[in-house]
Amino acid sequence: MVETTTSYTLIDGRKVSSDVKTEIAQRVAERKQLGKKTPHLAIILVGDDGASQTYVDNKVKACKSVGFHYTMMRFADTISEDRLMKHIDHVNNDDDVDGFIVQLPLPAHISVERITENIRSDKDVDGFTNHNFGSIISKNPLLMPATPFGVMELLRRYRIVTEGKHAVVIGASRIAGAPLSMMLTEQGHATVTICHKYTKDLASFTRSADILLVAVGKPGLVTADMVKEGAVVIDIGTTRVEGPEYPKGWAIKGDVDFKNVAPKASFITPVPGGVGPMTIASLLLNTLRAAELRNP
Ligand code: GUN
Repeated sequence: MVETTTSYTLIDGRKVSSDVKTEIAQRVAERKQLGKKTPHLAIILVGDDGASQTYVDNKVKACKSVGFHYTMMRFADTISEDRLMKHIDHVNNDDDVDGFIVQLPLPAHISVERITENIRSDKDVDGFTNHNFGSIISKNPLLMPATPFGVMELLRRYRIVTEGKHAVVIGASRIAGAPLSMMLTEQGHATVTICHKYTKDLASFTRSADILLVAVGKPGLVTADMVKEGAVVIDIGTTRVEGPEYPKGWAIKGDVDFKNVAPKASFITPVPGGVGPMTIASLLLNTLRAAELRNP
């Protein structure tokens, strides 16, 4: 029997995210020296969902770390859709705010589509509006959705060649899988296969992937037998799994069976510490870009 021992490279999202933040802080300092406006991010949070609160706290911390101004706007989960729309109009028209986000999920009585579509696209630093989404396939991409933008940045910084490669994306969500597939095609020049919950015989697709990207939210979905020797494996899943074996009573798990898949991979992202930290770095990059476009 021939044994293969591949030594893989761990893609360190924490390190790349920290490098990106250092670069942003430098650009902000340069802007300030030139007497230009400090980038300003506003964050709208509705309700008191614990996970959303943690995400938002991390976004505020990130703003502080790069020298951005920020405004935190909190509303009770009883706020009406119309009232929330009024606040969004106000932020849309506030000249000092360069970009803003409405943290999701929203309470069930508020339409995410209506809220998202009323964010001015040049301030939509989540890249969620149809205008920004569509711009992925234009010659002039505008503000990119943060998670796929972060994945593309990781691939670039690890010099992973995508051109002409077969990229298989599992998951077709609007936040991750769908825009990522478009970016891999348009910017990465990869040949892309999108798999989703209706795909039959998933493994028959994943086994031919040079680059396998998974954004489903099902821990352990990708097992070693589904991965080609030497593949690049990018795990975008983040699921909170509870159990007495974890010191905090819970742990964040990706979609890939890391222990068994890693020895077959050439590059692989861990969870946590892979794609996750890049999402906030991308939000900051988008905010800086929005500020630079508004006040060159
Ligand atoms: N909820 C979970 N992830 C995100 C995100 O990237 N942006 C917003 N606005 N809400 C989220």
